[in-house]
Amino acid sequence: MAGDPFYVTTPIYYANAEPTIGHAYTTVLGDVLARYHRLFGDDTYYLTGADEHGLKVQQAAEARGVAPQRHADEMSARFKDLFQRLEITNDDFIRTTEPRHKRVVQEFLQRSHDNGDIYKGTYKGWYNVREEMFVTESEKDDLKDDVAAGRVIELEEENYFFRLSKYQQWLIDYLNANPDFIAPDTRRNEVLGFLRQPLNDLCVSRPATRLKWGIPLPFDDKYVTYVWFDALINYVSALGWDTGDTALFKKYWPSALHLIGKDILKPHCVYWPMMLKSVGLKPPRQILAHGWWCAPDGSKLSKTIHGSGLFLWLADQYGVDEFRYFLMRGRAVAQDGGVDERTFVDRITSDLSNDLGNLLSRTVKMVQQYCGGKVPTARSCDAKDEGLEAIAGRARKRVRELIDAIELHNAIEEIMSVVRATNRYIVAREPWALFKDGKNELLDATLYHCLEILRLAGVALSPVMPAKCAELLRQIGAPAANGASGPQGCWEQAMAWGGLEPGAVVPGGEPLFPRVAALKGQPGAVPSDMGKVEKPLERVAQQPTEKAAKAERKAADRFTAPDGAKAAAGTEMPGGAGAPGGAGAPEGLITIDEFFKAQLRTAEIVEAKRHPNADRLLVLQIALGEERRQIVAGIAAYFKPEELVGKRIAVVANLVPAKLRGEVSQGMLLAAKDSAGRLTLLTTSDPAFPSGCEIS
Ligand code: MSP
Repeated sequence: MAGDPFYVTTPIYYANAEPTIGHAYTTVLGDVLARYHRLFGDDTYYLTGADEHGLKVQQAAEARGVAPQRHADEMSARFKDLFQRLEITNDDFIRTTEPRHKRVVQEFLQRSHDNGDIYKGTYKGWYNVREEMFVTESEKDDLKDDVAAGRVIELEEENYFFRLSKYQQWLIDYLNANPDFIAPDTRRNEVLGFLRQPLNDLCVSRPATRLKWGIPLPFDDKYVTYVWFDALINYVSALGWDTGDTALFKKYWPSALHLIGKDILKPHCVYWPMMLKSVGLKPPRQILAHGWWCAPDGSKLSKTIHGSGLFLWLADQYGVDEFRYFLMRGRAVAQDGGVDERTFVDRITSDLSNDLGNLLSRTVKMVQQYCGGKVPTARSCDAKDEGLEAIAGRARKRVRELIDAIELHNAIEEIMSVVRATNRYIVAREPWALFKDGKNELLDATLYHCLEILRLAGVALSPVMPAKCAELLRQIGAPAANGASGPQGCWEQAMAWGGLEPGAVVPGGEPLFPRVAALKGQPGAVPSDMGKVEKPLERVAQQPTEKAAKAERKAADRFTAPDGAKAAAGTEMPGGAGAPGGAGAPEGLITIDEFFKAQLRTAEIVEAKRHPNADRLLVLQIALGEERRQIVAGIAAYFKPEELVGKRIAVVANLVPAKLRGEVSQGMLLAAKDSAGRLTLLTTSDPAFPSGCEIS
């Protein structure tokens, strides 16, 4: 494939514990970038994998009573399963226990040793047994409990060291000459901060007597390789560096973009460039450190088991593409953020159901009603049409720039702003009125523009929501344009105006993003592992800390689906319903959440008669889509029953049924009353909106 090489990597994930939201986030981020770059025509390679050596994996395996290799096999399979569920299109999944990796690590160590950068020395000082890290005097002072418990011990032993100090000035100069090497700037400054201090050389070995689960040093098999030195090399071992099969390496190194969490800045931004320099390799193109996902109370997520389960549970409950959308749209890559189910649902409701899904369903419905279900003739009639074409053209350019700058949330917002502009364009154009007045040319232009914007949004969002966008494109009769499986390198062409063929069938289909009626979470219903996956591998039950338990209780409170209907039960008169503002809203106001509890829908009155026992009431039979209902309304003083039949009105559809003077009422109609006491029903005459539509 022609095009610039684009090599994107995630950290390789520790095979000691279950995958969490953090792993899902970095991997979805890498996938979305890889898919965009494929669409842009770049020669793309996406690598992820598992870090399978080290004390943590050895200990996790011991705790289960299985061999480390078996534990690593099972854990890596968990990661692979998760990535499949999340529609990840990685080109390779590297495991550090694979022979292809071990061989490269040994070659790397040997070269570094041969050129004098690895030497044997004696370490005397403090050592954190659990973290497998040497600890400075001042760090030890902060770990008093660990020292007392024997988790941080005094140690004197012979080991091999890598000369970090030799490359310190070189790295400072490199960072100064290449300001984009580490992003964002805050992280770059953090790294420059480390480099201002004198650097101790890095201990790159562990005696095999203490740690068995590692790659033996090629020059001294009484030692195994320190897990970080081993793990970092995955970025070149997966490309076959120096193994005879160097085609991938030649093509993709050093175009690498390493995506990492901010927790692993030092190994990536200090050790790794120096290690590469030591064997004569160039540093990667860029290292991007993203922010941290937190539990709703802001605590670190990976420690709150419940919190990490919640995220994956969200994907199961609300859809993988919605989850991917939320992760990418929710916040800037560099920022930290907490999340809960409410925030998630609000985001997908407003962007996906109300903006994109609504544009799709109303457009398809109108095309089917007014244009025989086929793409109408492509023409522009006035400045409004041209304006829409112009903003779509700007978006094509802007999205590409924003993806290059890794501002995914802004790129998505750019696309969604075009979608929202198109919804406003429909309201301004009133296609239903054009149809009624026989203004066919303008009607065709309007609906063509709506379909074409939908097509462009479907292409531009396909890296974020591959399955949903493929379905969107199918529903409007457009060809697929997904980076992974569809045409590669077609961004300019696919995003050019006018891709839809007039006359093509617009088949439509099920609503793409059905509105979420109520939160699905129930206290205690969120699984502690990862939703639908098999039971956790660990044998030891984890007790939540008091802090985690508190966060859990807080989250559980938020998930309780409120019984919104109770407040309105028995309401009889038009305009009479409405619960007062609940917690979180000032006196006299309601929150948007409370408003969304009311299901407002269009309904058609199919029959109307007087109430047998009450002069002021009428008994109406209404159609709500396919459903028939009876509602009793206090409007007999204002309307004759026969005037009402055929009217398309607005009703509250989720009231608890009530009996009004012996007649069941299953909803309430909406009406407006003026100061003179006149009453009018809220109706719609737009033929594109039959009974049963949601009103929001
Ligand atoms: N094995 C090392 C990485 C070696 S790379 C040569 C490691 N593994 S890890 O399993 O702990 O994964 C760390 C990475 O997972 C983070 O850098 C980040 O990409 C992701 N995350 C884990 N938890 C996270 C959050 N709560 N939020 C965001 N991402 C975090 O470190």
